[in-house]
Amino acid sequence: METAIVNITDDRQGIEAIREKIRAAGRIIRQGGLVAFPTETVYGLGADALNPLASGKIYEAKGRPSDNPLIVHISNMEDLDRIVKKAPEQAKKLAEKFWPGPLTMIFEKSDIVPLETTGGLQTVAVRMPNHPAALLLIQSGGGFIAAPSANTSGRPSPTRAEHVAEDMRGRIPMILDGGPVGIGIESTIVDFSEEIPMILRPGYITAEMIQEVIGEIRMDPGLAAEDAKIHPKAPGMKYRHYAPKADLILVSGAKEKVQEKINELAEKAAEEGKTVGIIGTEETKDGYRYGVVKSIGTRKDETSIARHLYGILREFDQMDVEIIYSESFSLSGIGQAIRNRMLKAAGHQMIEV
Ligand code: TXA
Ligand code: MG
Repeated sequence: METAIVNITDDRQGIEAIREKIRAAGRIIRQGGLVAFPTETVYGLGADALNPLASGKIYEAKGRPSDNPLIVHISNMEDLDRIVKKAPEQAKKLAEKFWPGPLTMIFEKSDIVPLETTGGLQTVAVRMPNHPAALLLIQSGGGFIAAPSANTSGRPSPTRAEHVAEDMRGRIPMILDGGPVGIGIESTIVDFSEEIPMILRPGYITAEMIQEVIGEIRMDPGLAAEDAKIHPKAPGMKYRHYAPKADLILVSGAKEKVQEKINELAEKAAEEGKTVGIIGTEETKDGYRYGVVKSIGTRKDETSIARHLYGILREFDQMDVEIIYSESFSLSGIGQAIRNRMLKAAGHQMIEV
């Protein structure tokens, strides 16, 4: 299959030409096909969420386990009530505050949502993304687009159209290229299918931000444990995920000690003839002496670290690096989401110094 990569950023083509391209992509979705598209978090691989055959194609293109449910993307509030049995008041409050935005909520599903979309579950995850192209695609694609991240299952999520092409070229008819995304890690997931709402996946919207709106919220114990043996509730969080081909090892502790340890480990690996990668920051990158050193962003602004995380892992993949040592990041704010993704990418290998 030819994969068309359609540029929707170049302003010189005019806004109406861009809208027409997105509407054409919407027609592919309506006909049961797949289109990859940008959102503010990561690129998604979209299909008509109400068409079981279309959802099925997503699993095939990604090589995704069939028990791993998809997020249904909507473009306006009224559509929420069509796909869920009942959205509790607290969820509506969160939607008012954070939609469109990087927040996904889970509810009991209504009958029109096929089990193929929900991985066999009676619940459905819903999100309204904050991206004009995504919103127009959802509208023109019929209103309900099932979309996981547009990577091959297990690989780092795509934050640019080039990443999607790496994984999906030849497997899907179209990629909408909207340039690099703004946030760079996937949405926060809050489960409303139980008594007390629970965060199943940390993201840009933090527990503190949610608490301010609705009060009590729990963290999935499977996340906080930092232990691979306690399974998180979201099926997708249990797999080794977001992972580069190389072995990734995190080093945590005081700045100087971390740098010393990484230099020591990198030297040893280099002596053993391994190709070594190092993930540092703007503040520390000049202090490393071995291997390929990449700066992931600045500690003064952790959103820059989130934005570059997956891209850096993919860059190391392309260089056939065999082992990567990385600094680790704080647990406050978006740091918690960064830590969560890095631990999973590292298969929970972390050295404390
Ligand atoms: O930012 C995002 O959320 C991106 C963009 C494209 O919107 N999408 C995304 O989808 O990250 P995906 O499929 O890569 O991750 C969805 C996660 C998986 O871990 C899945 O298991 C979980 O959400 N999930 C989906 N529906 C669920 C449900 N009904 N119950 C529990 N977990 C669910
Ligand atoms: Mg994913």
